[in-house]
Amino acid sequence: MNIKIHIPGLPPESLPKHVAIIMDGNGRWARKHLMQRTMGHSRGVNSVNRITRFASDLGIANLTLYAFSTENWNRPREEVDALMCLIGETILREAPELKENNVHINLLGDIDRLPEQVQRNLQEGVDLTASCDGLNLNLCLSYSSRWEITDAVKAIAADVAAGKIDPAQITEDTISSRLQTAGIPDPDLLIRTGGEQRISNFLLWQIAYAELYFTDILWPDFDEEAFTQALTQYANRERRFGMTSDQIQSLLK
Ligand code: FPP
Repeated sequence: MNIKIHIPGLPPESLPKHVAIIMDGNGRWARKHLMQRTMGHSRGVNSVNRITRFASDLGIANLTLYAFSTENWNRPREEVDALMCLIGETILREAPELKENNVHINLLGDIDRLPEQVQRNLQEGVDLTASCDGLNLNLCLSYSSRWEITDAVKAIAADVAAGKIDPAQITEDTISSRLQTAGIPDPDLLIRTGGEQRISNFLLWQIAYAELYFTDILWPDFDEEAFTQALTQYANRERRFGMTSDQIQSLLK
């Protein structure tokens, strides 16, 4: 991993290897600035670009962005269409620069539900960055955790029915390896912008031991400084994974 930026006081080993973000507050940002909701989403793309670049420069291995949930399909038709257009256009526009920065685009979610043109644009971005081995940018589109877990359960049930798996041998790995995130380490830090303190059907299995960070900052205002604050708070937390503080301290010696 190529580290281009060091934040004073935050050595690379204190940074999370995987940051997941619920990007909330685009609509409120637009209202605050007397604009249409879709303008809030457009401004949100600026934050996506800045935070992706910053995470990549810091040498963070995985960034997972909740860009469109399964539940978001229930939004007004015009907003869904505008978001789809924005996502498709953004990927086409940004993919060359992502490639230059060695960022690998990965898609999580029920991608077949997206409009075909958007799927084609996304696939172009995935193909263009396929050989990149820097930051892994996981874009969650038409994603929800319960959908993902249901899909994994169906796959396991089919394997059991076909005699490929003995139910007694099912482990946590059996499940993890059938999730959309198979092969990606679990998030260390989950950030939600926009002031709400909930998980909204995002990575429920994977965030079992993630540190949670909530900020009132609306997503279009979330910049490098705000991200640094989240990273600083993460670095100062003690992750115990169910053990005692003394046990963790002796493991760190
Ligand atoms: C939540 O804010 C945000 C979304 C539903 C969409 C987020 C999408 C983007 C920022 C574009 C991503 C593009 C790419 C290419 C990854 P909200 O609309 O729920 O805000 P509100 O709670 O203030 O109404």
